[in-house]
Amino acid sequence: MRTNMKAHAPVIVLSLLAGLGAYAEGDPDHDAPLTPLPPVSAPPDNPITPEKAELGKLLFFDTRLTGDASLSCGDCHDPKKGWGSSGPISRGYPGSVHWRNSHTAVNSGYQGKLFWQGNARSLEEQAPIANRGAVAGNGERDVMQSRLRQTPYYIKAFKEIFGTERPNLGDAWHAIATFERAMLSQTDTPLDQYLAGDEEALSEEAILGLELFRGKANCIECHNGPLLADQKYYNLGVPRPIEWETIGLNTITFRWENYAKGVPEESYRTWKDDAGLYYTTKRPEDVGKHRTQPLRYLLYTAPYMHGGQFYTLDEVVDFYNEGGGDNEFTDGTHGFNTKTSILKPLDLTDDEKELLVIFLEEISGDEITMATPEIPLYGVMPDVPGLTQTAAKRIGLETYLSTRGGAQEASQ
Ligand code: HEC
Ligand code: HEC
Repeated sequence: MRTNMKAHAPVIVLSLLAGLGAYAEGDPDHDAPLTPLPPVSAPPDNPITPEKAELGKLLFFDTRLTGDASLSCGDCHDPKKGWGSSGPISRGYPGSVHWRNSHTAVNSGYQGKLFWQGNARSLEEQAPIANRGAVAGNGERDVMQSRLRQTPYYIKAFKEIFGTERPNLGDAWHAIATFERAMLSQTDTPLDQYLAGDEEALSEEAILGLELFRGKANCIECHNGPLLADQKYYNLGVPRPIEWETIGLNTITFRWENYAKGVPEESYRTWKDDAGLYYTTKRPEDVGKHRTQPLRYLLYTAPYMHGGQFYTLDEVVDFYNEGGGDNEFTDGTHGFNTKTSILKPLDLTDDEKELLVIFLEEISGDEITMATPEIPLYGVMPDVPGLTQTAAKRIGLETYLSTRGGAQEASQ
């Protein structure tokens, strides 16, 4: 008994440490094992309820939450396009382009930090960044909130779910986050079944692919744990998106993003690649690093990488087989190199590359399909006794209501 416990102790300690992310980049020995995805969890101040998830679903597809009311989350995270967008670089707010590839929203509820550069700590924090960001939703807070308050269905639903007299924008972000957690999480894919002990759940080829993934191809070094992503950041030397070189609007957007993210003037003038995590941390060693992507929904989410640089999984596997690539943060252009030392040429045969791709495709599971819901209509708000348009314009609605003892109502 005692000997047994002793034998197990180091294993327990090691897995605890791995769970805390205690191992530095480059340590090849301790990777969190691949395990089935657990049920998704929610923060204590935003528990999942079916009603809130349904409300969030409507809001996800509602164009009211952008500047000119023409675009919804669902336009850049389209159910028919893997809950992302099919272009390499995402579309932007009308008249603009985005500068990065749109992630799938599937399984985003499991991410520690959101975005390629990890600049949002929760889905609740992520949604307003999306809807207010200049090249995404470009919405103005008061306008978006007023639109919700002018919609009878939302007034009723927000009251029932959040207990408020009028919808608050912050609650809309909570509802959207709940929708993503409740309806866009996958917990029963062939991979989950296989990892739970059903050896028939994957084909023989896929199982051989998994062996390569864990062994010779060494993908497991970064794509590990239940999500197949270690929540860390690396510069793999992914090449510059071609659009930044060839299309003026994309170049301008890239430069503007650098400016907006506060890079020093010299970098603003000279950098031409995406500095990734650096924009969030401003640590020189983080230049060019991007978050490891989960690999659970790949079949539906091409193209791949932060700028959609690769159209197929074959291209991705070729890229890794060559030991990654080069960009100006690896090739010495600026006098430094942040490329990860983990990537090395893999020497995979054509058959091995194919097995790896079969594995990546097969673990994607069923497509999460969803018909776009019908969006509730605006309504004419109830009459205010004695209020004419002229009076309302002259004195302002709130002042008018306060003279009638209705201040409480007007300020909700
Ligand atoms: C104009 C297109 C556009 C719109 C509108 C948009 N997104 Fe995104 N979304 C993107 C792009 C592009 C990224 C990647 C940006 C980055 O990482 O810098 C992204 C990233 C995300 C992520 C991060 C996923 C991950 O794995 O880290 C989530 C979640 C998300 N969006 C949800 C939403 C929600 C919810 C809305 C509406 C409130 C929304 N998006 C609106 C384009 C858009
Ligand atoms: C050193 C860590 C590391 C290793 C090893 C690694 N990856 Fe990645 N992987 C990443 C990072 C980081 C990204 C995002 C990079 C970016 O966009 O700049 C990524 C992205 C991907 C993507 C794109 C996913 C998407 O949604 O766009 C695929 C596919 C992928 N990796 C597959 C693999 C395979 C297969 C292997 C093994 C041959 C592997 N990776 C090895 C870190 C790694």
